[in-house]
Amino acid sequence: MGNPAGEDLEEKTVVFGITGGIAAYKAPMIVRGLKRLSLDVHVVTTDSAGYFVTPLVLQTLSGRPVLTEMFSEVPGSSYEIDHIALADQADLFLVAPATADFLAKLAHGIADDLLSCSILATKAPVLVCPSMNVNMLSNPATRDNIETLKRRGFHVLEPASGELACGWEGAGRLPEPDRIVSEVKMLLSRHDLSGINILITSGPTCEDIDPVRYITNRSTGKMGGAIVEAACLRGARVTVISGPVGIDYAPWATLIDARSAGEMLDAVRENLAGCDVLIMAAAVADYTPQMYSQNKIKKGEKMTHLELDSTPDILSTIRPLKESRIFVGFAAETDNLKTYAQDKMIRKGLDMIVANRVGEKGSGFASETNSGVVLSQEGVLYDFEHMAKETLAHKILDLVKDKL
Ligand code: C5P
Repeated sequence: MGNPAGEDLEEKTVVFGITGGIAAYKAPMIVRGLKRLSLDVHVVTTDSAGYFVTPLVLQTLSGRPVLTEMFSEVPGSSYEIDHIALADQADLFLVAPATADFLAKLAHGIADDLLSCSILATKAPVLVCPSMNVNMLSNPATRDNIETLKRRGFHVLEPASGELACGWEGAGRLPEPDRIVSEVKMLLSRHDLSGINILITSGPTCEDIDPVRYITNRSTGKMGGAIVEAACLRGARVTVISGPVGIDYAPWATLIDARSAGEMLDAVRENLAGCDVLIMAAAVADYTPQMYSQNKIKKGEKMTHLELDSTPDILSTIRPLKESRIFVGFAAETDNLKTYAQDKMIRKGLDMIVANRVGEKGSGFASETNSGVVLSQEGVLYDFEHMAKETLAHKILDLVKDKL
């Protein structure tokens, strides 16, 4: 099945190069994040990195000696040539932070220390995370070096903007350790959905009554978010149309905000043409207030009832545009799960429906796990019980892949 957290990564080796920028202080957190993915991590530092982060902490967290010296005579060593051994072992090289000086070396093929020499010798993908003062970053020399590296197939995680350690404001911050670790995870994952465009709806919709109040439901976007992340990790091009949620979607997805069912319908219509698969994981509100009050309805106005209209059914509305696309719907039910879901699948013209049990602990809204069943026109495809949403997301994508 797919690649739930770590499954594909366990046997993989990352050579983590740290160069001498102030952001090297974040390196131990990166090592920790990589180890959490069960990766084998070999840390290589440049001489100047040693001023910012000590080998002891990196060695303790990685569980391996930290390498810096190109020409070390270690008594009883295996006589392996260090830089070639590293170059060959690596499934990925990560350099974070990558200083302007180090980027210049890489762009010009200079190999005067263990890290630069190993990268010159490797066939593995290389991810560099530039981090430096804003003016050093915008200097044409640095920009050209970064462009050269991109052209040669290096992966570049652009720095974030904000307050810099040197006192300047602007671009140059090393992205947070979690962001760097996610990028490593994505690059090392099996890209079995590359070339596939997936449109995913997620979260609740909010139907406004006045500028203060609205009708919504308990959806948090966790299930949709897990599918977005899994699809991105597997190389799909993902667009997510989301109602208001408190979660962050995977950074590789294109995010479109849609507040109400009406806005979500418009966004789905606009983005359907380019997609091969539509996964409707959003809990779209079924009713919307007939009237929207521009002004806040005052407490004293005694609102005794609310006139409601049905929202448009998105899936039924776009059904005529389906063509050869795969449509996957979701159903949240407290009882008669299979019967209701099957009926919904046929009524809405779906290829597949994921029916979740709601109203019990460990399944449905806001929960980390889900229980239920996946149905297709052929019958039951998969039963799941208290399954992590992340694992279920991969399973759903496996089933979608079988239909492509
Ligand atoms: O019938 P019900 O609304 O429960 O069906 C759920 C499925 O239909 C979900 O996939 C949901 O995203 C989708 N849906 C829709 N338009 C609505 C309500 C739900 O497409 N107005």
